[in-house]
Amino acid sequence: MRRPIVAGNWKMHKTAAEAVELVEGIKSLVAGLDVEIVVCPPFTCLETVCAALADSAIGLGAQNMHWERQGAFTGEISSDMLLAAGCSYVLLGHSERRQFCGEDDSLVNRKLACALQAGLCPIVCVGETLQEREAGRIEEVVLGQVGGAIAGIEAGAASAVVWAYEPVWAIGTGVTATAAQAEEVHAMMRHFLAGHLGKAADEVRIQYGGSVKPENAAELFAQANIDGGLIGGAALDAGQFAAIVKAAL
Ligand code: 13P
Repeated sequence: MRRPIVAGNWKMHKTAAEAVELVEGIKSLVAGLDVEIVVCPPFTCLETVCAALADSAIGLGAQNMHWERQGAFTGEISSDMLLAAGCSYVLLGHSERRQFCGEDDSLVNRKLACALQAGLCPIVCVGETLQEREAGRIEEVVLGQVGGAIAGIEAGAASAVVWAYEPVWAIGTGVTATAAQAEEVHAMMRHFLAGHLGKAADEVRIQYGGSVKPENAAELFAQANIDGGLIGGAALDAGQFAAIVKAAL
């Protein structure tokens, strides 16, 4: 039995004061629910949100990290800094970072190895563009990203990764993958992971992300291989985020 996990990716939204207001709202609405819940605010809010979450079961995640533990990397944030700020999770390889910050599979691979070594739970994002989908390249692109991320990482460690399938064309567009489209790719990913991890692939959680809203979450989360969601826009509203979390019950 895989425990559903719903994470909010706040992207570049919320000052520390705004973040506390949002997290207080979420806390009161999701208390006691048997879903693993994570919020991923910007770096500048992590410690403040961590303090606000002290009396809650909600986990804290960052949206990115560097692949080295320390060093001369101006403007970067390390895994140890995230741990010290109270993080247990980190998003890696989000499509916006692949698109705007030049992150490729080998970089994601180095970050993933570093996160696992540090003891953070990585949520690794993969997904095809509309052009790639229309060219019939979904399998090649998505499984290429999954394989690239875990290359050289020992199966025991790789089994701890949470995956997020986020078709790029569904992110922030209001166009959601249908439950059948998402399930097809999730099943493909689990089958591929089984080739690397064996039976442990049955325990791996794969989230869906891309325009998840309270209206479509239940149908998506009801699919056999969809184990929760990675939520962008709707995670910035406590009521909507809580409704999505409840859809994962
Ligand atoms: P939206 O939910 O706004 O489409 O964003 C999804 C996403 O990118 C989460 O990481």
